[in-house]
Amino acid sequence: MQLSQSVAVERREEPGLGVAGAIWVDNPPVNALSQHVREGLAAAVPAVARDPEMQAAVLVCRGRTFIAGADIREFGKPRLPPDTNEVRRMIEKSPKPFLAAIHGTALGGGLEMAMACHFRVADRNARLGLPEVKLGILPGGGGTQRLPRLVGVPRALEMITSGEHITAAEALDLGLIDAVASSEEEGGLEAGAIRFALRAVAEGRGLPRVRDIESHRDVRENPTIFSDFRRRIARRTRGFNAPEVCIQCVEAAVELPFDEGLAREAELSRTLHADPQSRAQRYYFFAERAARKIPDIPADTPVRDIRRVGVLGAGTMGGGISMAFANAGFPVSIVEQNRDALDRGLATVRSNYERSAARGRFTIDQVEERMGLLDGGTDQNALAECDLVIEAVFEDMELKKRVFGQLDRITRSGALLATNTSYLDVNEIGAVTGRPEDVVGMHFFSPANIMKLVEVVRGEKSAADAIATAMSISRAIGKVPALVGVCHGFVGNRMLFQRRLQADRLVLEGALPWDIDRVLYDFGMPMGPFRMSDLAGLDVGWNAETSSSSTLREMLCERDRRGQKTGRGYYVYDPATRAAAPDPEVMDLARDLAGRLGIEQREIGDEEILNRCLLSSVNEGAKILQEGIALRASDIDVIWINGYGWPVYRGGPMFWADEFGLDRIVDILDDYAARFDADQWQAAPLLRETAAAGGRLSG
Ligand code: 3HC
Ligand code: NAI
Repeated sequence: MQLSQSVAVERREEPGLGVAGAIWVDNPPVNALSQHVREGLAAAVPAVARDPEMQAAVLVCRGRTFIAGADIREFGKPRLPPDTNEVRRMIEKSPKPFLAAIHGTALGGGLEMAMACHFRVADRNARLGLPEVKLGILPGGGGTQRLPRLVGVPRALEMITSGEHITAAEALDLGLIDAVASSEEEGGLEAGAIRFALRAVAEGRGLPRVRDIESHRDVRENPTIFSDFRRRIARRTRGFNAPEVCIQCVEAAVELPFDEGLAREAELSRTLHADPQSRAQRYYFFAERAARKIPDIPADTPVRDIRRVGVLGAGTMGGGISMAFANAGFPVSIVEQNRDALDRGLATVRSNYERSAARGRFTIDQVEERMGLLDGGTDQNALAECDLVIEAVFEDMELKKRVFGQLDRITRSGALLATNTSYLDVNEIGAVTGRPEDVVGMHFFSPANIMKLVEVVRGEKSAADAIATAMSISRAIGKVPALVGVCHGFVGNRMLFQRRLQADRLVLEGALPWDIDRVLYDFGMPMGPFRMSDLAGLDVGWNAETSSSSTLREMLCERDRRGQKTGRGYYVYDPATRAAAPDPEVMDLARDLAGRLGIEQREIGDEEILNRCLLSSVNEGAKILQEGIALRASDIDVIWINGYGWPVYRGGPMFWADEFGLDRIVDILDDYAARFDADQWQAAPLLRETAAAGGRLSG
């Protein structure tokens, strides 16, 4: 019987056990709790109650997943009844037991629906979690009240504030589910779940309700549980509002009776829904998914089969890229120019793995397993069998051309050839091969085994399936790809360059490097530009012979202030603690250089620092968009969030610019153009036009 557009109930008889109602949800693609799903579920409870034969109900979903949460597209709009919490209350109070049969992912409101049921059974490949925090909200469907009751406060805090999914095995261990069933067993998950429910009835297990479980046993045993947890996650959650509010809800679960806890959760949930951070994070959710779509390359474009990956160069990037593939189970052939460089590269990879193992990220066995996937050598012929080769040799056009010429001769036809270049022209590199259609850029970010972004660079001759393959293989290794066109520095570095230009200029005009770093750190960036330079080393690309004290960086290098590695750079570093401290000598040098260049120094406020650093890169972003180097403003945001640590709660530079106000930005740019460098501060035409039309760049 159809109960709503997407929910139906079917009578199911299990010989010897009795009859249950299978309540099918069918709302592709992810069975989100859209209005008609809520309506159908609300109708299911009385339908099962009324049926004299049905002894229990099993909630089960069609398609690839159990309910993956609320329908995010409904957020910010008036919500039509029935309310999801009302549906949960009805299920919880049902006179006949409800069982959630979970496959795929039970996420957010989906897992909350399952926790309102009396029993939960999951397929062994299922994953469960409360990812709301990633959208800047909290699990407002009773998740913060029921999860701690089921799995205990420590695990609930961890799951709710991280948003990470857990496996069915772990869920069983924690008591979040009652049993693991297999889709492969007789009749599949549905039948297994029905047998479980009917047996529960036969065994007189009644109607166990999560709300009735005692919630404060953990706190009795460990009264500082919340303060300890807050301290532990402080660094990871800096700047985000939602995690702290999630913790307050779990505190309420411990301190208040269930219904009062629910009321507190609802009240705090409303504040987060109204928080601009949540708007930004929801925007980002759809931005990441939009970035996968390329208008002239349909989603069903066949991708090339990638089984073995080759990496050329085992330096900083080659090593990290090799790790990223090995982590995902791909065998990798690494080719270096000589034995020493290879040994050094492989030793670094091993020590990185061992450090992760020491931190408990994986086991020593897994270190060996991953190292076992890496096959190093100095003979390029090892790349003949690779389906994808990523070049990560020095940033030198002549070298890259030579290497691609060799790859063209060695690799099999149809192999995808990618360069990890940061700035160079992918068309020029592709042109030295007889198959530029197979050549793309895959620009990873350092450390490549950690950072999520891959800028997939589309050369003018790159084939559609080459691009589709680069995008899909990036996702297969857990990265977030975004398509970019060819230009100096592509999207991210080209915008970063403008910010760097301003940061350096501000110092000459009298701003202090540590003030600039502080302003950007407080904005939410992981580190300011000067701390970053000190970390990377000021002498990257510096040449002692040609150094002529023409920039502050040169002056610092000339004094052997080459960054953290020499104990001094823009900052001085405590040899024992490595703590950074400002150093007046740097300001003396800046003053000296400003004097030589005829730049007058003045006091510069935080607002100007922030505006000059951010608006210069936003303006560049608008030019990039206009030139078609990025397909959409939201792709630029995906790039900055995943490659440069831009705080996701500010949505990315283009979204941030829209929220800041494009007309306000144009006014500031015009003011800077009049006061500083007119060319530099010329507002991008797209920015000016969009502002004049009252539009937005990010949609
Ligand atoms: N609402 C609306 N649309 C959704 C959605 C949701 N909850 N989840 C996914 N979608 C859409 C995506 O936008 C995408 O649309 P598109 O094809 O038009 O781009 C489509 O469904 C498929 O999604 P994915 O490309 O992400 O598919 P995957 O198979 O890679 O991943 C998934 C599936 C793991 C379910 C992933 O989509 C996901 O993580 N979804 C979000 C889950 C979530 O955050 N749930 C919590 C929602 S908030 C909530 O429940 C509030 C409650 O506590 C009160
Ligand atoms: P690196 O100097 O750490 O490593 C380069 C490696 O290439 C060296 O180990 C060198 O021995 C090897 N090599 C040189 N010629 C070779 C050849 N003919 N065959 C095999 N190996 C050869 O440099 P890094 O930082 O790893 O950069 C590599 C590339 O990645 C460059 O194009 C760079 O612009 C790009 N990149 C660098 C990033 C970074 O943060 N370091 C970020 C993103 C891209």
